Amino acid sequence: MLRPRLRQDRPDTRQFRKERPGINVNVPRHIAIIMDGNGRWAAERALPRWEGHREGAKRVRPIVEHCIDRGVKALTLYAFSVQNWGRPKDEIGTLMGLLTQFIALEKPHLIQKGVRVQAIGELERLPQDAEHSIRTLVAETAENTRFTLTICLSYGGREEIVRAMKRVASKVQEGELRPEDITEQSVEENLDTFFQRHDPDLVIRTSGEQRLSNFLLWQSAYAELWFTEVLWPDFNTSDLDEALGSFASRERRYGLVKSTNGNKE
Ligand code: FPP
Repeated sequence: MLRPRLRQDRPDTRQFRKERPGINVNVPRHIAIIMDGNGRWAAERALPRWEGHREGAKRVRPIVEHCIDRGVKALTLYAFSVQNWGRPKDEIGTLMGLLTQFIALEKPHLIQKGVRVQAIGELERLPQDAEHSIRTLVAETAENTRFTLTICLSYGGREEIVRAMKRVASKVQEGELRPEDITEQSVEENLDTFFQRHDPDLVIRTSGEQRLSNFLLWQSAYAELWFTEVLWPDFNTSDLDEALGSFASRERRYGLVKSTNGNKE
C-alpha cells in the first residue's frame, strides 16, 4: 500500500531542485556509515585492535570535510553499538577513551566548519567522562546549521524503536494520542533521530560485510546501500566519491513504477 509521504524524505524531485538550486539532485542529503574493519586493519599489520580504532577515528575528519565539500548536509556514524558492550572490557575502555580524545581534538575544527553534532543511543550507559564530553559537544554546536554530524553511541535500531514505542504508549496512556491516530509520523517524532530533516539516502558499510547490523532500521527503509571491501581505517575521499558516483546513477522509485520518459525522477 502506498502511504502519504512524510517530512521531506521522499519529495517530488522537482521541488527538491527548487529547494537546492545549483546542487546536483543526485547528491545524497544524508549519508550514514557503518565504520567496520578496524580490528582486521590492525590484525593485518600485527598491531593490537586499539590501533585500528585509533586509525579509524582519524578517518572521520576528512570524511566530514569531503561530505561538506560535496554538498551533503548530514552524516551519521555508527561508532558503538549496544551489542558492542559484549566486547572485552579493555577494548570497550579503549573505544570510550578514543571517543573522549576525538571530541577534545575535533571540537574546535567542527565548530570552525559549522558542524552541529548530535549523539543518539543510550548515552547514559557511557562512562561519565565520555557522556559528559559528548553532551557538552552537542550543546556547544547546537546553533550550527551548515552540516549535521550524528554519532551513534550504545545505539541499536531495534532498541531505538522500542524506546519510541514506549514514548508513544505513554502519550496514549496520558490521553495525548488516540491509538487510531498513530501514524508513521507519530513514530518518527519519537525516534532518537526526530531532529533529522531527512532519513539517510545512502548507507555505506566498509570491510566487505553486507548487512545492517541493527543500524537505523526504521530510517533506512528507502536508503540506497553501498558496500566496499575497503577497511574503515583505509577509507578515503576517493572511496567516498565512488559511493557518491554509484548513488548518482541509481533510480529511486519508492515502490512506484520505473519512469518511462527517460527522466530519472
Ligand atoms: C568496527 O570495527 C568498529 C567499531 C566497533 C568502532 C568504530 C569506532 C571508530 C571508528 C573509532 C571511534 C569513532 C569516533 C567517531 C570517535 P571492528 O572492530 O568490528 O573491526 P573488525 O570487524 O575488523 O574486527
